[in-house]
Order: sequence, then C-alpha cells, then structure tokens
Amino acid sequence: MALQTHISLSHLLLIAFLLSAAVSAASAATTISPGSSLSAANPNTAWSSPNDTFSLGFISSDPPTSPPSYVAAISYSGGVPVWSTGAGKVVDSGGTLQFLQSGTLRLVNGSGATLWDSNTTSRGVSSAEIDDSGNLVLRNGTVTVWSSFDNPTDSIVPGQNFTVSKVLRSGLYSFKLVKNGNLTLLWNDINVYWNQGLNSSVNTNLSSPTLGLRSIGILSISDPQLSTDAIVAYSSDYAEAGDILRFLKLGSDGNLRIYSSTRGSGTVTERWAAVTDQCEVFGYCGDMGVCSYNDSDPVCGCMSLNFELVDPKDSRKGCKRKMEIKDCPQSVTMLDLEHTRFLTYPPETESQIFFAGISACRLNCLGSSACDASTSLSDGTGLCYSKTPGFLSGYHSPAMSSSSYIKVCGPVVPNPSSSLGTAGNKKDWKLRAWIVVVVVIATLFGLMAFEGGLWWWFCRNSRSFGGLSAQYALLELVDQDVDMDQVKRAIQVTFWCIQEQPSHRPMMGKVVQMLEGITEIENPPDPRAVIEGSASGTSMTVSGNISPLSTAADSAPAPSSFSSFQISGVSPLTSGRNTEKATASLIQSGPN
Ligand SMILES: *[C@@H]1O[C@H](CO)[C@@H](O)[C@H](O)[C@H]1NC(C)=O
Ligand SMILES: *[C@@H]1O[C@H](CO)[C@@H](O)[C@H](O)[C@H]1NC(C)=O
Ligand SMILES: *[C@@H]1O[C@H](CO)[C@@H](O)[C@H](O)[C@H]1NC(C)=O
Ligand SMILES: *[C@@H]1O[C@H](CO)[C@@H](O)[C@H](O)[C@H]1NC(C)=O
Ligand SMILES: *[C@@H]1O[C@H](CO)[C@@H](O)[C@H](O)[C@H]1NC(C)=O
Ligand SMILES: *[C@@H]1O[C@H](CO)[C@@H](O)[C@H](O)[C@H]1NC(C)=O
Ligand SMILES: *[C@@H]1O[C@H](CO)[C@@H](O)[C@H](O)[C@H]1NC(C)=O
Ligand SMILES: *[C@@H]1O[C@H](CO)[C@@H](O)[C@H](O)[C@H]1NC(C)=O
Ligand SMILES: *[C@@H]1O[C@H](CO)[C@@H](O)[C@H](O)[C@H]1NC(C)=O
Repeated sequence: MALQTHISLSHLLLIAFLLSAAVSAASAATTISPGSSLSAANPNTAWSSPNDTFSLGFISSDPPTSPPSYVAAISYSGGVPVWSTGAGKVVDSGGTLQFLQSGTLRLVNGSGATLWDSNTTSRGVSSAEIDDSGNLVLRNGTVTVWSSFDNPTDSIVPGQNFTVSKVLRSGLYSFKLVKNGNLTLLWNDINVYWNQGLNSSVNTNLSSPTLGLRSIGILSISDPQLSTDAIVAYSSDYAEAGDILRFLKLGSDGNLRIYSSTRGSGTVTERWAAVTDQCEVFGYCGDMGVCSYNDSDPVCGCMSLNFELVDPKDSRKGCKRKMEIKDCPQSVTMLDLEHTRFLTYPPETESQIFFAGISACRLNCLGSSACDASTSLSDGTGLCYSKTPGFLSGYHSPAMSSSSYIKVCGPVVPNPSSSLGTAGNKKDWKLRAWIVVVVVIATLFGLMAFEGGLWWWFCRNSRSFGGLSAQYALLELVDQDVDMDQVKRAIQVTFWCIQEQPSHRPMMGKVVQMLEGITEIENPPDPRAVIEGSASGTSMTVSGNISPLSTAADSAPAPSSFSSFQISGVSPLTSGRNTEKATASLIQSGPN
C-alpha cells in the first residue's frame, strides 16, 4: 500500500515536472528570464516574439566593417532592423547583450565596457519579453517599467505611440513632434529644415498629440481634442494586401521616410519621403559641401579647388579650405558661385538678413570679418543672407536663381572642366556624329551609284555607250557630271547640320543656298574643339567665324553674368558650355 502510494506520488511528480517543462518550453521564446544573454559571436541566437515576427539579436553593422562589428537590434522577419541598443552602438565579436539578475538590460563589448544600459536596476524588474508588434518590455510583475517603444531610436512601427517628449535620431539629425501637432526635422537640434503643420482645416488646440503609423500605411496624429485622426501622409502602397510591415524611419541622410518590407524578404522599399528634394536637407553634404544632382541622385562635392574633401572616401563628410582665411598670405577674395545658395533655414538673426543687390551682397561680405559667405536670392525679394563663420550647407542647381559667394584665399582655382558625368555624353555625341557622317556619305555614294545604274540602264543601247564598261561610265559620272566641289559643299553643310547646339545649325533656306553655292560656306567648327569646349584659340576663332550664322550668339548672356573666374576671356558662344561644365564640375567628388 505504502509502496503503491509512493509510486503514484512519484508518477504525479514526474508528470507535473514534464508538464511544467513543456509549459516553460512553449513560453521560452516570449519571456526572457533574468540571467540570460546573447553573444555577438553567435548571431544565430536571438530572442524572438511568439510568432517570430520580430526578434532581438546581434546583426552585422551597416555598413560592414573590418574586423566585423555588430549591433544588438530588434529586427523584423527577414532581418530589417527597427530598433537598436544605444541607437546603433557597435561591439566587436566578443560583445554580449545581458539581461542581468538585477533586472537591467546591458550591452557590453569584448573588453567588458558597458556601452548601453536600460538603467532599470533596483526597479523590481522580474521579466523581459518581446511581443509580436516588436515591443521589448521589461516588467515588474505586470507593470511595464521600460519598453523599446517608449525609447525609440530611428524608427516607428505600427502600434508604437510617438509623443511630444520623444525623439528619433540618426547622426546629427532628429525628428520631433511639437505640442501644436507640427512635425519637424532638425539638424544639430537647432536648424529646422522641415516643418509640417496639421491640415489647416484642423482648427483646435491639441492637448497631447500622438503620432502613429497604422499597419495599412497611414501616418496620422491622434489627440483627445480631435474627433478623427489628422492624416499626415499615406504610404504609396497603403491598404495593399500582403504580409507587409510598414515603418517610419529617420535615415542617416536626414530624410524621414515610410518603408515597407514583405515578411521574410529582408528588403525594404521606400513609400514616402518627408523632404522630396534631398538637397534641401540641411548639412547633407557636410560643412562647406555642395549638393547637386547627377541624372538621378544627389551628389556631394566641393565648391572649387580651393577646397578639398575632408574624407576622400566619403564626400558627405564635407569639404575644408586648403588654406584657412586666417593663414592666407595673399589677398582674400570671393569665390563666385552661380546658381548656388547656402541653405538658410532659421535661426538667422535679423542682422544676417538684409536687402542688397548682388554685388553689394558680395562686397559687404568680403569687407566684413563677421561674414564668411553670402547668398543673394536673386528671386525678386532682393534679400541677401550673410553667413557667419560656421557650418555651411550648399545647394547647386542650374535652375536656381540664387548666387552665392564664399571667402577663399586667392587666387581662385575653379574645379577642373572635365568630369566623369559628362564624359559619357561626349562619347555618345562623338559616336552619333560619326554615324551621321558615315550615313550621309554612304547615301551620297548610293545615290551616285543609283544614277549611274539608271544611266547605264537607259543608255546602254545608245551609240555613245560604245565599248565603255559600266564601271568606267560611273567613274566618268563622278569625274564629270558630279562636281567634286558640290560633294565637298554637301559634306560641309552636313557638318553644319550636326552641330550639337541647335542654335548653331543653319536654317533650311540657308542650307539650300549653301548647297547651291549661292552663299559661301564657312568652315564648320571642328566638332571636337566644340565638344571639349576648350577656351583655346581654336575654338575662339571658330566661334568668331560662325557668329554671322548664329543668332543665339547675340542673345547669349554676357560672360560677366556667369562665374567670372571660370568664364573670363571666353567668347559668349562657348560660355554656355562652360557653365554646363562648371555645373558638372561642381559635383566632381569622391564616392558617395
Ligand atoms: C570597448 O569599449 C571601450 C569604451 O568605449 C573601448 O575603449 C574599447 O576599445 C572597446 N573594446 C573593444 C574590444 O571594442
Ligand atoms: C543610463 O544611465 C547612464 C548614467 O546616468 C546614462 O549615461 C545613460 O544615458 C542612461 N541610459 C539610458 C538608456 O537612459
Ligand atoms: C514591483 O511591483 C510591486 C507590485 O506592483 C511593487 O510593490 C514594488 O514596489 C515594485 N518594485 C519596485 C522596485 O518598484
Ligand atoms: C503574429 O502576431 C501578430 C500579433 O498578434 C499578428 O498581427 C500577425 O499577423 C502574426 N503573424 C503571423 C505570421 O502569424
Ligand atoms: C498607444 O496609444 C493607444 C491610445 O492611447 C493605447 O490604446 C495603446 O495601448 C498605446 N500603445 C502602446 C504600445 O503604448
Ligand atoms: C507649423 O508648420 C507650419 C507649416 O506647415 C508653419 O507655417 C508653422 O510656422 C509651424 N508652427 C510652428 C510653431 O513651428
Ligand atoms: C485637409 O482636410 C480636408 C478635410 O478633411 C481635406 O479635404 C483636404 O484635402 C485636406 N488638405 C490637405 C492638404 O491634406
Ligand atoms: C488656442 O489657444 C490660443 C491661446 O491659448 C487661443 O487664443 C485660441 O483661441 C485657441 N484656439 C482654439 C481653436 O481653441
Ligand atoms: C549618380 O550618382 C550616384 C551616386 O554617386 C551613382 O551611383 C550613379 O551612378 C550616378 N548616376 C549617373 C547617371 O552618373
């Protein structure tokens, strides 16, 4: 009897033990118990949410480094990070993420230095867990002591509430929600370069606005004072079906975007951007860097050869003067930058903004030690912005009316004229020109052959045909009937008609006159001399020669209205091209 009781009791104990083991195994994925840790050396281990939508673990740093470094991050299925400890603090392969018995979560590197701490020691934290919305929570019983949703880094995911006291950060950039419902992007916590208010139809004072991203892709602000949420933006794929995560992220380029990622894909697609013109992001090209566009992308470069990249491997790090103004042995002069402005987002003191014409704007700055650079808006406002020595962020675009000036230690050395960006075009153009020449000449000879054929066909029975061979007849045709001068004229006209600049091409009437020999044909410019736009004697002579033909030459702006240092001494005809090249050479830069 006693034995039986004993056995059944041990059975019961065994069953109870197995049951509890099974239960703890099922919940192990969710709950992280104190004392456990993750190692950077073993990136395959991670703490996952119950249905594996999100997991917390080490991922390789982006961009990759050598030796490899790691970031402890919460990632969406497929490996898309949406939160990280210490906003992306990197550790070596000896790094660990520890959930200590004291209830704090800590990132420690290989030499034992604490790089980040949740600071929840002695707050009674007994458990940690990550849920299926991507929130990492530290709890005392059922009370949330700390959560990753309340301590965002650079991203917001659906279900996460972003309130006035919170901030997204990426490098020097930050994103904030203001109490009145405005959304702002800031550089260095002061320069607001994007500020979007609520729809003007929302006419209430908000009490505690909350920004949220709905899982279907709508970014909106809710507030107790609002009857319905105020919509800020729609993701371009909003409400599209599929297992998709949409999230808001402040990029290292200072832009705020909505991205979407299909579950398991590990890839992200941009769906909305706050700043549509990337070059408008303050400081995108670093201090004294100038942002402009190649065909598609924003590129960073320096203003002239009086400057050099701070980091030749990363043009976004900005530029510096080769010779500082204070060390300048020669005279300090102004570098003139056409179609360029220095971004002048507030705060600007009133004394830094005044009314002045272009040359006054330039001269005032040159004469003042408190001024380092200036921008004349030339947009009809007559405003001149004076920039004190400090961070300068430039934007260059051929369509921009503003002119800017910056002090450099003379003499001004413009950027080299050749640039990778235009080299391809030049080749293309040369190829096109050659194709045209070959086709025209082939057509001429084809026509002659055809005429010869006709002549042979109709005249072979005539007596004059005699014993001459067809070949000889053709030669005769070329030697006698077709004037070599005429062929030469045709070829010369061809060269005129394939001028790259439409304004250099003659009118149809003129073409006929030239072909018929009524008008004397001037020597067309050597395509190469014009293409390369050298300011050499040849191309100047050429431009002089063709000026009677070109009406554009008279209307072309005078050289002085272009960057004087670059164009001085070049005839108006080539100045247009040089401006183009100045544009291109501004973006001459190292890899992005
Ligand atoms: C760990 O971090 C400390 C402090 O930042 C640093 O001095 C040390 O070099 C780091 N060790 C490794 C192995 O990265
Ligand atoms: C934790 O406390 C330390 C020291 O006060 C502080 O430097 C650190 O920023 C805090 N960490 C967090 C995540 O708030
Ligand atoms: C943890 O929670 C319990 C119950 O809510 C509370 O009594 C206790 O003071 C908390 N511990 C700390 C350290 O806050
Ligand atoms: C995971 O759980 C979340 C929250 O319950 C749910 O929205 C999502 O659809 C689930 N995903 C899968 C693949 O089960
Ligand atoms: C976000 O705010 C809503 C409404 O105030 C609330 O119901 C929800 O629990 C909050 N979510 C989190 C993760 O705090
Ligand atoms: C809010 O944003 C609007 C632009 O949408 C701007 O005109 C207004 O000045 C901003 N308000 C504040 C207080 O920044
Ligand atoms: C502002 O809200 C009104 C009414 O909700 C809407 O018709 C209008 O399109 C909104 N304007 C903007 C710029 O979103
Ligand atoms: C918002 O607050 C300001 C100042 O407190 C007040 O003058 C204004 O009338 C309020 N607007 C509304 C719509 O309540
Ligand atoms: C524009 O610049 C980007 C980044 O530097 C580069 O990847 C791209 O190939 C460039 N495009 C052209 C047309 O030059």
